Amino acid sequence: MEEIQVIIGGKTASRVISAESIEALAPLLEAYPKVFLVYDRNVAWVAKEIAAGSPLAGMKAIDTSEKAKDLATVQDLCSWLLEAGADRKSLLLAVGGGITTDLAGFAACIYRRGIRFAFVPTTLLAQVDAAIGGKTGVNFLDFKNMLGVIRQPDFTFECAQVLQTLPHRDFLSGAAELLKTFLIDNTGNAYEKAVTMLSEAEVSAPDTLQKLIAAAASVKAGIVGRDEQENGERRHLNLGHTFAHAIEHEARQAGLDITHGEAVAVGILLAARLSEAMGLASKGLAARLEADWTACGLPTSVPFDLGTLTAAMTKDKKAEGDTIHFVLLSSIGQVEIRKISAAEATAQLL
Ligand SMILES: NC(=O)c1ccc[n+]([C@@H]2O[C@H](COP(=O)([O-])OP(=O)(O)OC[C@H]3O[C@@H](n4cnc5c(N)ncnc54)[C@H](O)[C@@H]3O)[C@@H](O)[C@H]2O)c1
Repeated sequence: MEEIQVIIGGKTASRVISAESIEALAPLLEAYPKVFLVYDRNVAWVAKEIAAGSPLAGMKAIDTSEKAKDLATVQDLCSWLLEAGADRKSLLLAVGGGITTDLAGFAACIYRRGIRFAFVPTTLLAQVDAAIGGKTGVNFLDFKNMLGVIRQPDFTFECAQVLQTLPHRDFLSGAAELLKTFLIDNTGNAYEKAVTMLSEAEVSAPDTLQKLIAAAASVKAGIVGRDEQENGERRHLNLGHTFAHAIEHEARQAGLDITHGEAVAVGILLAARLSEAMGLASKGLAARLEADWTACGLPTSVPFDLGTLTAAMTKDKKAEGDTIHFVLLSSIGQVEIRKISAAEATAQLL
């Protein structure tokens, strides 16, 4: 078992625990008088394994979709917690992907003005990103993650074993966030190693995958520790996300099925092209990433005209008036933030 601490203001605010088997979770749960488990119906098998090893005060399955990542589902979760007798000392344990951890984490943050919560992320995306850092929330009025809070989970329990049933498309979606992390911090050439592992399918070895996940989790935990409230360095994690959120918005309007990670993959390529157009990155960076994406099986384009993404980008929750903090890539492992308008950004790319 390996533990990474999220240190905020000199104190341990959260822990990311990597373990080879789900059984290692039971001792961690003994610290709580009552544990309520909410799980994505698609990972009922993981919830059952947890229930077999620990006494639970309640269990609830939820259906997950971006449509159901809303206040109504949070209200349902709060009603369930109230009826089942969850008090201020209870722990809400969320088992599932980023939708489940965002929903359950948010419910835990507002129920009785906040109870403790912990995550067992079951997608690669949630293991390397969504379940670390304490951002939780829901979609609102067609905008992604418009309502939410930042509050740290007690712990995030990471186990590559639970990914065995994850559909390949969802695995790739997480691979995009994994590569994003190493584009921000390429310590030990982690980016190149991840591309090799993903393109050569070496990740099928669970211990290799577990190490890769722990390395990405450690980068994220470090950034969150230094800038929990996203006033500076944490913005780096939004690499590709301004474009990605606009892509997801347009996809919803057009009734197209594009996952968050797929949108992020294409968003990163657009950010790299913008970095080149603005003279921040040397020519060839975007082409290099595109080749890496192709080798890893990630998408490199979306069926939207760039111009159509502009309006959606200005409504990004990170927009400040007309300008947006665009995270740009000057080289692999080196990002920079520039405040420019969405119109200016798209004009550079047209
Ligand atoms: N809070 C944050 O910091 C943060 C960061 C990044 C993304 N997010 C959010 O995360 C969400 C995307 O997360 P996601 O990709 O994990 O989506 P998800 O939770 O929808 O999971 C993807 C799919 O995989 C299924 N699934 C999950 N684990 C499985 C398993 N082990 N076996 C079989 N099926 C499994 C789910 O039922 C779902 O159909 C988005 O809503 C995004 O906004 C949040």
